[in-house]
Amino acid sequence: MSSELTGRAWELHDVEATHALAARVAAVRRGGDVIALRGELGAGKTEFVRGLAAALGAGQADVVCSPSYLLLNVYAEGSVPLAHFDAYFMSSSDDLERAGFDELRRAGHLVAIEWAERVEDALPDDTLWVDLRPLGDTPDGRRAELSQGARWSAAVQPERADDRHGEGRA
Ligand SMILES: Nc1ncnc2c1ncn2[C@@H]1O[C@H](COP(=O)(O)OP(=O)(O)O)[C@@H](O)[C@H]1O
Ligand SMILES: [Mg+2]
Repeated sequence: MSSELTGRAWELHDVEATHALAARVAAVRRGGDVIALRGELGAGKTEFVRGLAAALGAGQADVVCSPSYLLLNVYAEGSVPLAHFDAYFMSSSDDLERAGFDELRRAGHLVAIEWAERVEDALPDDTLWVDLRPLGDTPDGRRAELSQGARWSAAVQPERADDRHGEGRA
């Protein structure tokens, strides 16, 4: 099923455009949904999550670190609470579970995961996948592609869309 967000490439010419795309995703989010981010170091995964947090009015993150690296940021104050995992140092989906993935989803958090391919087998079928890569040869250009399972397709119908964020459209 085609939808407003998926099945096309988004050309994001600067960080603001990445934040604006994240805001469009946040506008159709529900607690318990999972947003899985893929892309190399510096692709803009963290910036995308910052855009989600800003759009939700999430306020200050409660940072949960392992002794040596960021594991999880929880933003409890937004319209929907947001849990932001970084799976870079996770070696299996067990690590994600141990960090509280199921518990946070059940508690109604929107969950965003960087390096989600590392924990793919823990993710639900209706996960929204966000792939970020460089666009052209400008330092700020990014290309995003979104793909999803059935539930997201149903949630993101064209009549729910608008152009108020004005990001570059392919
Ligand atoms: N269009 C863009 N989208 C996202 N980040 C961008 C963009 N243009 C430039 N940047 C910069 O690229 C870097 C992306 O870093 P980050 O989001 O931490 O990447 P990742 O989490 O994928 O490793 C940031 O310094 C950001 O300012
Ligand atoms: Mg990152």
